Amino acid sequence: MTARERLLAMDRAHLMHPSTHAFDHAHGAMQGTIFTGGSGITIEDSEGRTYIDAFAGLYCVNIGYGRDEVADAMHRQAKKLAFYHTFFGQSNDPAIELSERILSWMPSSMKKVFYGLSGSDANETQIKLVWYYNNVKGRLNKKKIIARDRSYHGSGLFTGSLTGLPSFHNLFDLPVDGIHHTVCPHWYRHAPDGMDELQFTNYCVHELEKLIEAEGADTIAAFIAEPVMGTGGIVPPPRGYWDAIQRVLTKHDILLICDEVVCGFGRVGAKTGSDLYGIRPDLITVAKGLTSGYAPLSAVVVSDAVWEVIEQGSRVHGVMGHGWTYSGHPVSAAAGLANLDILERENLTGNAEENGAYLQSQLHAYFGAHPLVGEVRGVGMLAAVEFMRDSAARTPFEPNDGFVQKVVAAARQRGLIVRALPHGDILGFAPPLCTSRSEVDEIVRIAAEAFEAVTETLELV
Ligand SMILES: Cc1ncc(COP(=O)(O)O)c(C=O)c1O
Repeated sequence: MTARERLLAMDRAHLMHPSTHAFDHAHGAMQGTIFTGGSGITIEDSEGRTYIDAFAGLYCVNIGYGRDEVADAMHRQAKKLAFYHTFFGQSNDPAIELSERILSWMPSSMKKVFYGLSGSDANETQIKLVWYYNNVKGRLNKKKIIARDRSYHGSGLFTGSLTGLPSFHNLFDLPVDGIHHTVCPHWYRHAPDGMDELQFTNYCVHELEKLIEAEGADTIAAFIAEPVMGTGGIVPPPRGYWDAIQRVLTKHDILLICDEVVCGFGRVGAKTGSDLYGIRPDLITVAKGLTSGYAPLSAVVVSDAVWEVIEQGSRVHGVMGHGWTYSGHPVSAAAGLANLDILERENLTGNAEENGAYLQSQLHAYFGAHPLVGEVRGVGMLAAVEFMRDSAARTPFEPNDGFVQKVVAAARQRGLIVRALPHGDILGFAPPLCTSRSEVDEIVRIAAEAFEAVTETLELV
């Protein structure tokens, strides 16, 4: 047995992987890969094979792999002060500095930052803050949360329930009570026949209003949404969506939680999704791109108006009993600062806007007119190609066809990592924000070759 084979056997025996087929993994039916290194947009496995990572890990390695500057900052901080907590007003230099830096990326109405370790725990915090806020205001019944079908907000108990993908609920007794899902704003898949894009926006808004009316606005605390839907299929909003949705929320005094875990820090070619679409959130969640995945870190960003209620609440109710041991972890915060230095110095938001537009145009040029392609969509360095058995009739492939999984596997054999997203046959692209034009060409070339290889086998069947 080689050292690598021994490691893979240990992995099958002892490591329980997220979102993985338990039996197939444990019994070796799926090909495990051990990744050992990375540089730029390329990663390497233990057999020395290299891959272009066109999904930036899980859309998080925005500055690319192997950036010494971040590793050095973490090393320096770990040697100086590896840990001290931030409970009871205690603090550390990098957490303080990073809070101000995060706010410089957020809409100007945002005021305070609360740290967590993951997008999931940050969204759990969001819900607790929203409930706390309404309790302080004496609105004891205003607690329900509206999310959207196909949304992704994490996989905790409450956040897994907010997530609008059934595969994250099955056999977990989720969703918990107090959550309602409204229409996913994906025009191509969910618009009733003949509806144009603006009519579909009005339809989404109308469905939201109907739900609010049915439940009673005085029972609904917040609406949570990703500016551009990520895991649910990389879905940019239809025209006019955010303005119209916000009018409804304001009218009914419902807080808006913007989940910027994927969109934040440049991925959509703007500072945030809120910036791109003119969204004015009450609360914002960030994670992933905050450290480019070099260390676990998330943050809840709270508006001035929400903060004021929290602050006044403490005068009446005392200490707010919420926090994690690792809130404001100094090593993660040091990684965050070094990451933002790189993002800003190298103008990676600008690169995501420019080379992201090029990625979209190249995907359109290759896939756009193909009869098996229903839609090519995206913004910045977030893109999706949705395959259909009959795109004109909007007839999807059968799930058992495993069409997109075959394309992903064929791409991987050719050295490209792309991701199959749920709810159809959706091929997702989210390369690091530092991806160059020639790297975009290579990504699209290999994806196209993989697609052709799979469609050739289809024709033989
Ligand atoms: C929009 C969004 N919110 C929340 C999360 C959850 O983040 P985490 O996996 O760090 O808990 C994700 C993860 O992909 C996400 O895409």
